[in-house]
Amino acid sequence: MAIPENFLNELVDRNDIVEVVSSYVRLSKKSGSNLFGLCPFHSEKTPSFSVSPDKQIYHCFGCGKGGGVINFIMEIEGLSFPEAVEFLARRVNMTVPEEASDRDSRKRERMLALNREAARFFYAQLSSPGGEAAKRYMAERRIGAATAKNFGVGFAPDAWSSLRDAMKARGFTDMELFEAGLVRKGKNGGFYDTFRKRLMFPVIDVRGNVIGFSGRILGDGEPKYMNSPETLVFNKSRNLFALNLAKKSKSGYIILSEGNIDVVSLHQAGFDSAVASLGTSLTPEQARLLSRYTNEVIIAYDNDTAGIKAAQRAIGILEKLDMKVKVLRLEGAKDPDEYIKKRGADAFRNLLEGSEDQIDYRLRAVTEKYELSSDEQKVAFLKEASELVAHLPGAVERQVYAMRVAELAGVKADAVSDEVERRRKRLLGKARQEQTRRQTQPERQMQPEQRELHFEDPASAAAEKGIVRLLYLEPELSRGGGLPAPEDFSSSALAHIYSVLLEKARRGEALSAATLGEALSGGEMSLLVQLLQEPERLSQGERALNDYIERIRERREQKTDTDDLRKLAEKLKEKKGYKG
Ligand code: UTP
Ligand code: MN
Repeated sequence: MAIPENFLNELVDRNDIVEVVSSYVRLSKKSGSNLFGLCPFHSEKTPSFSVSPDKQIYHCFGCGKGGGVINFIMEIEGLSFPEAVEFLARRVNMTVPEEASDRDSRKRERMLALNREAARFFYAQLSSPGGEAAKRYMAERRIGAATAKNFGVGFAPDAWSSLRDAMKARGFTDMELFEAGLVRKGKNGGFYDTFRKRLMFPVIDVRGNVIGFSGRILGDGEPKYMNSPETLVFNKSRNLFALNLAKKSKSGYIILSEGNIDVVSLHQAGFDSAVASLGTSLTPEQARLLSRYTNEVIIAYDNDTAGIKAAQRAIGILEKLDMKVKVLRLEGAKDPDEYIKKRGADAFRNLLEGSEDQIDYRLRAVTEKYELSSDEQKVAFLKEASELVAHLPGAVERQVYAMRVAELAGVKADAVSDEVERRRKRLLGKARQEQTRRQTQPERQMQPEQRELHFEDPASAAAEKGIVRLLYLEPELSRGGGLPAPEDFSSSALAHIYSVLLEKARRGEALSAATLGEALSGGEMSLLVQLLQEPERLSQGERALNDYIERIRERREQKTDTDDLRKLAEKLKEKKGYKG
């Protein structure tokens, strides 16, 4: 199986490592001639994965993995050496010399061809007389013909040897069928079809290969699904159902659900970025695969304890890859399929648009875990919730959520806040140790300090708070005219917060807490957090803004008036010779 040396040299020459790696890892220039990115082989938040264009090698300072372009493909695609060579050769339109093309990769090709034929066979059975039951079931589940075609949904007939016979007629052997998991061996040594009387979902990888099948029973019964076993071409933990379709979506995010039926139903309703994790909970490999196509995942798991648990695990895995994660709450339905059928696509879209950030979701999950009327449980809750909040990067968010936790537990906000910051310090300490170890820049730490603020004019301050709140929530307001100047504010603290927000908003920068921590004092930060707790009439932003402005102006006029009166009175006093 030796592949000629000169062929390998040319292959490596033509597959520039930077180009190859770049389709898996976002690389950026950092030091010297090396490029850096987040290591695809272990979880990390600061890049320690380096690629050298000169040496054509990669090396991770974190996990120690390294090698040339072929090793990289072997590692990341899970391929053997000859397979990786084949992969890279195809990439640059080279042909591996025939005698070198290893038995394994020929086998792979055959298996993929067999799977493709099998998928065609199942699809054709839908419209055969034997496919009536499947058609009825599809109608019952409201899977339309166009959707079936899009997914290649088919039907495995109610017979022991229909696929086997059809495939043998096309030149495939029992052994090939067996290794592809399409037939099983009976007690008497004969082979029989694995999938019988089932609705068949082909699993198609991102390159368009049919790598396996998932077959659902028509109606109730056990097992509900049968899946292809792990084969030369099918690895459940490295693939996602429907990613071949979802990767083409323009939506900018991927919806992660549990069931095949959910995915089909979502696509049918127009949510073309839905995928499912093939009956396992999300694996790190699947998450990495997702991260190649999106940086935002919206989790739409089943609305039960198992779904919530699985969602939390998925969040943890996705977060490690720096992905934005949101979770849908499917109130009144057991899964996305049922939700759409009960409430319609528009309702689901609303849900998507209002989906919670993972922190809300997690906090709710933690809250539901404890019986808060028991002191003991309350303490446990506070510990877990504080730890959760401590992980938030932004000081404002931490304070917002510390207050929420305090409210939930019925304790003082300061107590939770202190606990959170204590844990935060510990986390940062740990992170810094880790970073020093890796010889990278230590992170900057922002520590808010609690300070009581006094408003000279509470009525005006209330309106000023409103303006700050509106601006924070709707930075676009900064682009319209008619905003007051910071000097119009009565509170100097609010004026400062306002001017900082305004400046950032006008520059088009995100008003995220992490960036405000630098510009605002601890007291100002607390104030901002506090005022963000109050509700705002966001739907009527302009109107609310005008009301606030009007109130500030009124207060100023009154104040000028009273100032004027006071001056007048003083003058009169002076004239009359009274003594104050
Ligand atoms: P579900 O039971 O939620 O299936 O399992 P579903 O596709 O949503 O079907 P309906 O709506 O209940 O009819 C979720 C996924 O778990 C895997 C399948 O991939 C399924 O889509 N699974 C489930 C299995 O692998 N085996 C099983 O027996 C059941
Ligand atoms: Mn389901």
